[in-house]
Amino acid sequence: MNFPEQLKARLDAIISSSETRQSALIPVLREIQNEYGHLSNESMEKTADMLGLPPSSVQNVATFYTMFFRQPVGKHVVWLCRTLACALRGAEQMEHHVCERLGVKFGETTADGQITLMEAECLASCGTAPVMLVDDTLEENLTRERVDKLLEELRKD
Ligand code: FES
Repeated sequence: MNFPEQLKARLDAIISSSETRQSALIPVLREIQNEYGHLSNESMEKTADMLGLPPSSVQNVATFYTMFFRQPVGKHVVWLCRTLACALRGAEQMEHHVCERLGVKFGETTADGQITLMEAECLASCGTAPVMLVDDTLEENLTRERVDKLLEELRKD
């Protein structure tokens, strides 16, 4: 697998500004995921090759962090927290509501390919539960009305 020239240039810039090859790994994987939407086996092999790291090191990082996707996902990813504080403040009802609105279960993508719904462990914002992460933005103090509005915006995007 060969990366496109523009991606290759961005990866080279990350690698040359990193103190070590190992420290470049996460930002490099993020950049590749930004390009392709997920990390394929081929792209991880290429990454290991570029960085001179064992393929198992790349695999270990890609499978450890939930922010990395091994399979294609929707244009947007919504992470709904179901851990204790959120559970006590209605996360289960919110899950039913979101699943019904999107027509998917956790781990699935809407038929239009716009939104993937994921279950999250504590998103470190227990004081503003219930919360969800929409791509890189934390949405707090969720209500059904707010969730409907957010999902509608994502579907239109
Ligand atoms: S339990 Fe949901 S943010 Fe902590």
